[in-house]
Amino acid sequence: MPNTVLVGAQWGDEGKGKVIDVLTKEIDVVVRYQGGNNAGHTVKVGEEQYVLHLIPSGILHPEKICVIGNGVVIDPVALLKEMDELEARGAKMAGQLFISDRAHAVFPYHRELDAGRETNARSQEKIGTTKRGIGPTYSDKASRRGLRMADMVDPIFPELLGQRIDEANGIIKSIGGEPVDKKQIIAEYSAVARRLVPYVTDTITLLNKAVSEGKSILFEGAQGTMLDIDFGTYPFVTSSSATSGGAATGTGIPPHRIDRVIGVIKAYTTRVGEGPFPTELKDDVGALLGKEGSEFGATTGRPRRCGWFDAVVARHAVMINGIDFFAVTKLDVMDKLAKIKICVAYECDGKRYASIPANIRILEKCKPVYEEMPGWNTSTKNVTTYEDLPKEAKAYVSRLCELSGTKLGILSVGPKRDSTLRIAL
Ligand code: GDP
Ligand code: IMO
Ligand code: MG
Repeated sequence: MPNTVLVGAQWGDEGKGKVIDVLTKEIDVVVRYQGGNNAGHTVKVGEEQYVLHLIPSGILHPEKICVIGNGVVIDPVALLKEMDELEARGAKMAGQLFISDRAHAVFPYHRELDAGRETNARSQEKIGTTKRGIGPTYSDKASRRGLRMADMVDPIFPELLGQRIDEANGIIKSIGGEPVDKKQIIAEYSAVARRLVPYVTDTITLLNKAVSEGKSILFEGAQGTMLDIDFGTYPFVTSSSATSGGAATGTGIPPHRIDRVIGVIKAYTTRVGEGPFPTELKDDVGALLGKEGSEFGATTGRPRRCGWFDAVVARHAVMINGIDFFAVTKLDVMDKLAKIKICVAYECDGKRYASIPANIRILEKCKPVYEEMPGWNTSTKNVTTYEDLPKEAKAYVSRLCELSGTKLGILSVGPKRDSTLRIAL
């Protein structure tokens, strides 16, 4: 398979984990390139369900190399817990998992600052973060105060961590938070660092060597285009580059070695956390999508907000990421709907928008302009080929791709590996 970036085309939780798992059998290396354990990527193998937060979703395929790239922020305690849980369920870490020595680490003071800022924010300014410390860790990275995995495995680490804790505690106190326990954290994280030593390596060289040997790479995006720090609904975004551009900076593989981009997109839309969501449905249809789609956050368990497919968002995602193919997921969730709406543009104060306004105050007031299509009113859950889908379902999916300006590559009608219809990929 060509070197492929896989990105979320909406606000996250599009089903990236499932699609990565399905594609992994055709590639050699899977690399996560941004985000942290704010991500929750679900993979179903038979009756077993796994939720991956930091480890690439390819890990359930024995012998495939999985890399946590330099663009990821790693909570080392959460990572070890995830590694231990996966090993207990039969997955192998040694020789399969590699962690970038340039990835930044998340410490308890980052989580405390994340929670403190959310608590102190005025209601309209709350982001609804996952409180995993992601924003403060990327802030430290940008302000050159971060500690990286290379620092964690250096003997000077306890001293460096102590300095950072002193500084952070000053800020935490100033915002009314609970200072963190310096002695306890240094002891705990020094022990954690010792356990991670065998996995921490120069993944930039490892990945580029794999490329030069003709191995194929799958770049695993976390979150989604609308949560990207530059291209999302700022400030209601995460703090990393979730779009395809982040794949180069988050791994050290040059852009011209990347061959194509797959956008994972739900057949409807969800969002978890605060921020504008023009097609949100606060009615029975929204409730039905939430129920049929089991729309609860894989990381925080919060109910996801649900709404109609938004082709303005989809077009934005196709353009920014250079999406060659869509993997459309969760079509089965819409099986019981008699009529389906697709948002084709927005309207605000008498003006029509065919693209996403940067001004968040305008976006918040935007009303969707819909076109309507008939539903199919039959179950698609056991369909195994595209041809066997009801004609209304095929027409709906074609229309989504047409409005978004890309091709259909994969269509998913259930959470399991075998509920995946391969169309052009
Ligand atoms: P990710 O963060 O993009 O990997 O997505 P999540 O794992 O957070 O959320 C997607 C959810 O939808 C998970 O519970 C998946 O098991 C489930 N899922 C994925 N594809 C399908 C599908 O085609 N149909 C249904 N019904 N569920 C799906
Ligand atoms: P996956 O990879 C959905 C959202 C949070 C919040 C905002 C900022 O599973 O698709 P953060 O903790 O990152 O500072 O929170 O981003 N968010 C996600 N929403 N899926 C995710 O990841 C998310 N990761 C962060 O809910 O609105
Ligand atoms: Mg998720």
